Amino acid sequence: MKCHKSKYVLFLMLLAAVTLSLGLTSGTSRADDEAAVIEECLSCHGPFEDLMEATKDYQDEWGEKVNPHMYVDITQKNPHQSTKIVPCIKCHEAHPVPPEGDMAIKKANLKYCYNCHHDETFELCSNCHKE
Ligand code: HEC
Ligand code: HEC
Ligand code: HEC
Ligand code: HEC
Repeated sequence: MKCHKSKYVLFLMLLAAVTLSLGLTSGTSRADDEAAVIEECLSCHGPFEDLMEATKDYQDEWGEKVNPHMYVDITQKNPHQSTKIVPCIKCHEAHPVPPEGDMAIKKANLKYCYNCHHDETFELCSNCHKE
């Protein structure tokens, strides 16, 4: 198996536990704020299905093909069996609105996903973990 990052696993798991539990335990007002920001971004860049289409051939820094625009609900056993959109600014920097001509927008990455896909691969967990 390909475990190029396994040394960092425990650290990453701890980090995931902290960041994900913050997400879980936050009150409704933060969830409302997040929903409002998602809606604002999607008012120009949406619908989400269009974003999925735009990045369907994306390759991560290891050359693995994976779509960064996937539904994730961290409360589900399979987090991708959902229609919950990840807040855009977990991965993207906000840019000026109205947009300016010379916005130097930094490329996003998949660090957010690596909270769970801790070996920085998107193969099945069961390839490495027995139940
Ligand atoms: C008023 C419309 C508008 C809103 C609201 C808006 N954007 Fe944009 N965004 C644009 C325009 C126009 C561009 C530059 C042209 C393009 O690449 O689509 C752009 C560019 C981008 C890019 C670079 C696209 C590329 O091709 O590399 C990203 C990423 C992005 N926006 C993310 C966001 C996020 C995240 C939000 C919410 C926090 C947001 N935008 C809100 C209009 C908007
Ligand atoms: C898990 C991280 C992640 C999340 C969450 C995310 N994106 Fe992206 N997005 C990426 C990556 C990675 C790319 C490809 C690299 C780049 O263009 O920055 C990308 C590309 C884009 C692009 C350029 C698409 C093109 O035509 O090439 C836009 C626009 C964009 N995202 C907007 C959004 C908006 C709006 C949201 C929220 C609804 C969002 N993203 C949520 C990671 C993410
Ligand atoms: C809360 C944890 C979690 C987060 C965050 C998460 N995933 Fe997943 N992902 C999973 C689990 C669990 C599976 C199911 C894998 C299995 O069945 O072995 C999965 C499966 C997948 C699969 C399917 C693998 C296959 O071959 O069927 C892909 C692709 C994937 N995730 C990509 C992503 C991307 C891209 C992100 C970031 C936008 C992300 N994941 C964020 C937990 C997560
Ligand atoms: C490429 C192989 C690989 C993949 C794929 C993988 N893991 Fe792991 N995982 C490991 C290794 C190696 C460790 C470290 C085990 C140890 O040293 O005790 C680990 C540790 C963990 C731990 C820490 C607790 C433990 O069992 O030691 C969790 C939780 C975990 N993985 C969850 C996941 C989830 C969820 C997925 C799928 C989203 C996944 N892993 C995918 C190889 C992998």
